[in-house]
Amino acid sequence: MTAAMEEGDWKAKVSEYIGADETAWHKKLEKYPSLKKMGELGPDAKFSHDGREERCLEFVKSHANVNEMRGNPAMVLQAIDEFSSQQEMLINLGPDKNRIMAEMITKERPAVFVEFGGHVGYSAILVADLMRKQRPDEAVKVWSLEFEPRFTKISTELIALAGLQDVATVIAGPAGDSIRKLKAEAKVDHVDFLFIDHVEELFLPDLKIAMDELQILKPGALVVADNVLVPGAPVYREYVRNHESLSSKGVKGLVMPGEFEDELEVSRVL
Ligand SMILES: C[S@@+](CC[C@H](N)C(=O)[O-])C[C@H]1O[C@@H](n2cnc3c(N)ncnc32)[C@H](O)[C@@H]1O
Repeated sequence: MTAAMEEGDWKAKVSEYIGADETAWHKKLEKYPSLKKMGELGPDAKFSHDGREERCLEFVKSHANVNEMRGNPAMVLQAIDEFSSQQEMLINLGPDKNRIMAEMITKERPAVFVEFGGHVGYSAILVADLMRKQRPDEAVKVWSLEFEPRFTKISTELIALAGLQDVATVIAGPAGDSIRKLKAEAKVDHVDFLFIDHVEELFLPDLKIAMDELQILKPGALVVADNVLVPGAPVYREYVRNHESLSSKGVKGLVMPGEFEDELEVSRVL
């Protein structure tokens, strides 16, 4: 789920589930207290940008296992998942798409990963950990481009807690501007894996910046966009599926908490 998803969209989605099977829905609410809390908040419910990201950081830092989390990315991710399912839901990859992303990173073995939309650093921690394990003696790099300075502060702290500060670098500002700057400063000349996960309306314009304007996506590179069904990125999907230099398909994944069916769009540069 993304920041761009409107409250109305969420309620429509929820109504679909209630209509389909009320018992199943109530089981979901029992399983995910954070979802129940969203329902109880009614029209005031928000998905992000309401102080929950700061509360997530505080939750992790005051967690009983915080000492074991130092230098342990899996434990940091587990604590963030715990906050999202038990306290307040977060708009990050979450524990199901996390598995799909891990499979793709393991298969692709990228050396340079860029994400548009970093939030509190969940996907950056997952990916940076895997990339470092895969190529322990090589320079691997994760660039996490996040609009909100207050989120970059949080993600930088969580990335450091996980011991990944040498691999993952967070940059504040609009992703399109940040990637232009990275190219201009010769910090990025190509990207092996581009993860697009910021605002659906920007998926296509920002892909074009990377692909056409900066030409940093070479043949063989992979571009993965999240949330192409929920809340949906139909214009982006149509574009990549009809592009002669891209081979694209959807991969099923669940929005968590709540297990809502969604897809990631996976595109190979030909
Ligand atoms: C769905 S969250 C990213 C989740 C993250 N990739 C993860 O899985 O841990 C989307 C993020 O994109 C950020 N965002 C919104 N517009 C942006 C832009 N133009 N450039 C970069 N980030 C943006 C939001 O502030 C939000 O933190």
